[in-house]
Amino acid sequence: EVTVTSLKALANFPIGVAVPESLLTDTAHQDVVIQHFSQLTSENDMKMDAMHPSETTFNFAKADALLSFAEANNLTVHGHVLVWHNQIPDWMRNFSGDTNAWVAMMENHVTTIATKYAGRLETWDVVNEAFNEDGSYRGSAAGDDSVWYTNIGESFIPKAFTAARAADPDVDLYYNDYNLIWNSDKLDGVIQMVNDMQADGVPIDGIGFQSHITVNSPDISTIKAQMQKVVDIRPKIKLKITELDVRMNNEGDAALTTFTAARAEVQKQYYFDIVEAYLDIVPEDQRGGITVWGTNDGGSWLQYFPVPTVEWPLLFNDDFTPKPSLQGFADALEAA
Ligand code: G3I
Repeated sequence: EVTVTSLKALANFPIGVAVPESLLTDTAHQDVVIQHFSQLTSENDMKMDAMHPSETTFNFAKADALLSFAEANNLTVHGHVLVWHNQIPDWMRNFSGDTNAWVAMMENHVTTIATKYAGRLETWDVVNEAFNEDGSYRGSAAGDDSVWYTNIGESFIPKAFTAARAADPDVDLYYNDYNLIWNSDKLDGVIQMVNDMQADGVPIDGIGFQSHITVNSPDISTIKAQMQKVVDIRPKIKLKITELDVRMNNEGDAALTTFTAARAEVQKQYYFDIVEAYLDIVPEDQRGGITVWGTNDGGSWLQYFPVPTVEWPLLFNDDFTPKPSLQGFADALEAA
């Protein structure tokens, strides 16, 4: 039995959820979001393609609507994302110009959007997924896909952060990536970048661990070691779990067709362990919060990526009833 009345009431840091545009017309979904979460991330509507459909046109309508909903319901907003190699409009992918023209184009995107929402967001993912698994920059090896690195070089990252800070002096600025919760080579590359930015006086307030993971993998000792590396950065920055979900299919196994009570208990324990690890390792002043990447299992991106599978990765069933995983998350917050 799940007895959690409000997840967010158990924490003094943001408890977030990524939401689709359909939230705005789905009152059952809204009820659960308002009851349990204190922060929203737009799953797709604040990305480069959504917000900047042509070189001279910005589309603020969807982001505006989400922000209005959030503000009306006492939720803060985590902005996702200013600069990413994926989900960019065709005009950007096909942009022609020298390095200076690419810098001006990128800075115009960052400045326009960060200025538009200045003072209304808690945090921004300024740059997303700019590193390879070996800790090198995405774009630095043949075949890598990154228009930003390819056309500007690694300085696109500090330039994006500098432009974001100039546009919104109060928002916390994050670098966000996947696999940082277990891959130490990749995290070491990111930390080297943070050290360099700090030495150069470039603003950066936090690192986001996306955390799309599989039940019981990575193990908790690995997760804690990765968290500790971020906590130890000086000057201090924050650590935010930005996109947590726990898929139930282990790679290589035959796809599961049922989510048994026994599996639900294993997932509940793993959610408990992850949240407990965060509370154990990350001091209060460095907690950027924990966000799950979707509300109900049926709404998860994992339903169709990379191939359609059923993964039961989140805290609520398809019909928005709570799962044991919600209890696991809550129990860890309560035990702290
Ligand atoms: O809106 C169209 C719809 O009109 C069309 O019929 C349908 C057919 O494919 O596609 C719909 O767009 C999809 C969109 O999600 C909205 O559902 C795109 O194809 C699909 O590619 C897109 O996937 C998103 C993915 O990012 C794209 O990179 C996922 O929803 C979103 O959860 C996922 O989020 C990312 C984070 O931004 C970064 N970290 C990883 C995370 C998971 O991949």
